[in-house]
Amino acid sequence: MPKVQKIFACTSCGSTFSKWAGQCTACQEWNTIQEEIIIKETVKQEAKKLWKKGTKKEKPRPRKLAQIETGTTLRRATHDMEFNRVLGGGIVDGSMVLIGGEPGIGKSTLMLQLALSLNAKILYISGEESEEQIKMRADRLGKSLSDCYIMADTSLANILLQAGELEPDILIIDSIQTITSAHIESAPGSVSQVRECSTEFQRFAKESSTPVFIIGHITKDGAIAGPKVLEHIVDVVLQFEGDRNYTHRILRTIKNRFGSTSELGIYEMNGNGLREVSNPSELLLSQKEENLSGSAIAATLEGIRPMLIETQALVSTAVYSSPQRSATGFDLRRLGMLLAVLEKRCGFQFASNDIFLNIAGGIKVSDPAIDLAIISALISSLEDVSLPSNICFAGEVGLSGEIRSVQRAEQRIQEANRLGFEQIFVPSFNMKGIDIAHYDIEIIPVAKVEELYNFLFA
Ligand code: TYD
Ligand code: MG
Repeated sequence: MPKVQKIFACTSCGSTFSKWAGQCTACQEWNTIQEEIIIKETVKQEAKKLWKKGTKKEKPRPRKLAQIETGTTLRRATHDMEFNRVLGGGIVDGSMVLIGGEPGIGKSTLMLQLALSLNAKILYISGEESEEQIKMRADRLGKSLSDCYIMADTSLANILLQAGELEPDILIIDSIQTITSAHIESAPGSVSQVRECSTEFQRFAKESSTPVFIIGHITKDGAIAGPKVLEHIVDVVLQFEGDRNYTHRILRTIKNRFGSTSELGIYEMNGNGLREVSNPSELLLSQKEENLSGSAIAATLEGIRPMLIETQALVSTAVYSSPQRSATGFDLRRLGMLLAVLEKRCGFQFASNDIFLNIAGGIKVSDPAIDLAIISALISSLEDVSLPSNICFAGEVGLSGEIRSVQRAEQRIQEANRLGFEQIFVPSFNMKGIDIAHYDIEIIPVAKVEELYNFLFA
């Protein structure tokens, strides 16, 4: 008889306790501890059975760093350039990649598209959709010439068994929250289940050198559902995000043991799947209306990719005694700070105005260099003077109204130049080392918000 054990696990950090408590002593979160039943012994026995004798390696021994050869790990480049980019060049053998995202954002589509486009043997496990549903989706994607196996199952033991027999080049699990190990009593998606299943997949990946892709749901506040340990186990964490009301999607690297985390891939979701977007600025600028006040273009960086994004501000007379401040895609407190700078340092009055700020395309921007465009959009709307459509801005605004230097200014200038803008406003501090003659675009250095105002509106 296996021994039945009851534990209490924190759904936030994955720590386990012998008794319930209101607050997790490990991560200090409240109301995250839940009861789970595990049957301890058989988990280990079953795991032992699952491992085929063939994959067993000899016991590892310590080796000197210098003795370890590199270059033997294979990186498999896919046909999808955006995907290669976020992975740091391609799929690494034996790696485990977690793809998180909100429901309906396109995780399954992305993975199926990857499976269908690779010239490799792929096992796609779906715990969420039936085989017919996947076939229908594959037909919709318009690709079927591939060595792709589909299995709709949720049992961990069977998945590992089938994967061991089929020996696929790549294993895809959609999604980790639906997979269950028969030896853990708790429901699929619970801390013990997610931890147990992902550890088993991790072992499978390492022992058979098969890359494993795991889809994970995310919770309301954006974290990957299940314990944080899941993120520690895997080699790469990718986040698929976007606004469902818009067609573009961003695949962001959160963690990558084989590359940089500042990479991101951009896709557009259309009728027949996800399309790579190699030139994001065109997507974000396409709807630009000319000669409307309150609109300014920011030369921002997402990770290390330059992107030109339209910012829009609407400053109108307040209807109620307490004026409204609303920002979409931008930090509301930062907006408050920029308004305070404009009031205190430049003498503008916003106290009796409602202010609405919007970043076009449903994009969230955290790059501080967007400040200058936002300030320009605010003044443009307040004064009701439109800005020329061929100028753009990059610069962070400091508390005393000074314009602070930005990262990689030259890359921003290049992108604006490439897209045919005629003027770009950059911080004076960034001018050192920039070869003006190198660009067709006129580069205008500004050091203070007043200078910007004089250039644009005076
Ligand atoms: P899906 O991959 O099922 O999302 P997830 O696995 O992240 O939950 O994608 C679902 C959405 O994608 C669905 O609402 C419809 C849309 N979609 C398209 O617009 N075009 C397509 O070709 C496909 C396959 C899906
Ligand atoms: Mg799905």
